[in-house]
Amino acid sequence: VFSHVVRAPEDPILGVTVAYNKDPSPVKLNLGVGAYRTEEGKPLVLNVVRKAEQQLANDRSRVKEYLPIVGLAEFNKLSAKLIFGADSPAIRENRVTTVQCLSGTGSLRVGAEFLARHYHQRIIYIPLPTWGNHPKVFTLAGLSVKTYRYYDPATHGLNFQGMLEDLGSAPAGAIVLLHACAHNPTGVDPTLQQWEQIRKLMSSKGLLPFFDSAYQGFASGSLDADAQSVRMFVADGSECFVAQSYAKNLGLYGERVGALSIVCKTADVAGRVESQLKLVIRPMYSNPPIHGASIVAAILRDRDLFNEWTIELKGMADRIISMRHQLFDALRARGTPGDWSHIIKQIGMFTFTGLNSEQVAFMTREYHIYMTSDGRISMAGLSSKTVPHLADAIHAAVTR
Ligand code: LMR
Repeated sequence: VFSHVVRAPEDPILGVTVAYNKDPSPVKLNLGVGAYRTEEGKPLVLNVVRKAEQQLANDRSRVKEYLPIVGLAEFNKLSAKLIFGADSPAIRENRVTTVQCLSGTGSLRVGAEFLARHYHQRIIYIPLPTWGNHPKVFTLAGLSVKTYRYYDPATHGLNFQGMLEDLGSAPAGAIVLLHACAHNPTGVDPTLQQWEQIRKLMSSKGLLPFFDSAYQGFASGSLDADAQSVRMFVADGSECFVAQSYAKNLGLYGERVGALSIVCKTADVAGRVESQLKLVIRPMYSNPPIHGASIVAAILRDRDLFNEWTIELKGMADRIISMRHQLFDALRARGTPGDWSHIIKQIGMFTFTGLNSEQVAFMTREYHIYMTSDGRISMAGLSSKTVPHLADAIHAAVTR
């Protein structure tokens, strides 16, 4: 009965790892998926995560019971505090509902399902380009996806005018997906002044912000600085959605730990919204897993662990920044044609190189370098040892 089923293509991001794993070359390099690697090219388990896991293992009172549908209460409370700030009026006034979800994707999907059922406007605007999974998440939840201009290939920077024009002509009440910081895939963020203009425009048109916060701490190395965009919108009393992921900033990729927060006008509305979120979650996966959220709660509640986390986080962010400088210098040293200064200007995990899909295919074929076909490089996957190989490949790709 399934003989008609056609083979689906691999995922444009996760499929890069599948291809990489099949390549026997000793010089192969995976710069596809946004996952942090050490200077030795190894995945990193943060020291604070190891400590938190040890604490959990030593605590004999811990059991493996089901969590509530909305997840671990302490995790939810601390996650809201992390993104909105400890002194957030929205938290003080109990206007925020936060539910633990399956990392960023799960948080986006639960939020989208809720919107499709309970919000009057089904149109969501997403930046062009955006993370490849965004349109699929929102479309499959029943929303209608449109794009707004975001990236300017000519400057490798923000097309701010285009963004304002497109949001300015969006229908009233439309949902707008915003990357809280470290935009994926471009590494291009609005300045704080530009965020303020975006906020004013959206508020005047009653557009609903849906923030994807997957890189808090990775853009600047500071958890607070990277939450500024979100806090700015919440400070004006606006309702908004925020999907948080701990995949990158705590390196908890496979634990699938994240949170969806919805900031409402009143505590009463927030309570009712939460009751409906439970109806979304229960038939999908009943309740979220306990382990990852317990690790996060242990770190966020403990001042020493929290401080140690911020140092480790800054260490990861700084290593990525150093990779940017090394790659830029290596291309300059080779005299590679083009202005590569965007490599050092863009922020977060990724550089949007400007290489086209043919150049990417060439680099994979000839140099065993794996990256997404849109020319995105995960800087977190590079090391001082592999920079020369990548620079050689880019040089060859643009001069052939
Ligand atoms: C990425 O963009 O590489 C990450 O967010 C991982 C993913 O799930 O796509």
